[in-house]
Amino acid sequence: MKIVAGPASKTLGEEIAKLLGVEAINVFFKAFPDGESYLRLEGGVKGEKVVLVQTTSPPQDANIMQLALLADAAKRDGAVEVTAVVPYLAYARQDRVFLPGEPVSIEAIARMIKAAGVDSLITVNVHKEEALKSFPLKTKNLSAIPLLAEYFKRKGFEGAFSLAPDMGALGIAMEAARVLGGEYGFLEKHRDRYTGRVSVEKKKFEIKNKTVIIFDDIISTGGTVIAAAKILKELGAGRIHVACVHPLLVGDAERRILDAGVEEVVGTDSISSRVSKVSLAPLISGELKEH
Ligand code: R5P
Repeated sequence: MKIVAGPASKTLGEEIAKLLGVEAINVFFKAFPDGESYLRLEGGVKGEKVVLVQTTSPPQDANIMQLALLADAAKRDGAVEVTAVVPYLAYARQDRVFLPGEPVSIEAIARMIKAAGVDSLITVNVHKEEALKSFPLKTKNLSAIPLLAEYFKRKGFEGAFSLAPDMGALGIAMEAARVLGGEYGFLEKHRDRYTGRVSVEKKKFEIKNKTVIIFDDIISTGGTVIAAAKILKELGAGRIHVACVHPLLVGDAERRILDAGVEEVVGTDSISSRVSKVSLAPLISGELKEH
């Protein structure tokens, strides 16, 4: 097995290779003046099982294209199998037609990367696991929630309340609660399909003066967790922390979340950011050992 650490996940890819004790092939990368990507594998992969590590965080479209180009390069050089490790799978939230005329973006991407040479895909906390069922590839969805919950446990947050900011994240909150040992619950969220505006309904929780950790898969604008934090404040919660797998944190999202009374935002290195305090390398290398 050889690891190819794509430009979007160079550090994570190299870390995974180190944990597995296998070679990490370097990728020479440059952007042409017109914006096109140029990539070259700086090592042979003939006869090898190749693992491409390339997240698809912003700039999503360029990173997806680079993943496809790397798969093509690996197959062209004689790789026998190409597994794409894509910790953050872009476009996963468009996993069905919500309004007439829309694409199922995530399915279109799956067909594109398969056509380029990807045989199987490993991702982490994809927005909805059911979406993977229609993929034309073998897929595996890993969960980083236990790692995030362990981070808080090590910091002394055992017994904290794990909150899902919407029903879709309830499974995540339950998973976190299994590690933290506290209670869990969820809020009711509504998003306007045209404006994108989020509103969250108040629920009855016994959280007065309790420490609450809000767990979500993605934080993009921060609107969802900010709305949740406001409700927690109204309900008299004590300390509020936020954890997510994929810290997109668009613009000044982190600052606005902290301004809403949250003490700390924690994410993984699925997307490299200031809050990426939990590495996915042990989780992904563990899966690749079984692969
Ligand atoms: C959507 O249901 C996801 O699980 C996240 O809650 C959402 O993507 C977060 O987006 P934002 O931070 O922009 O509210």
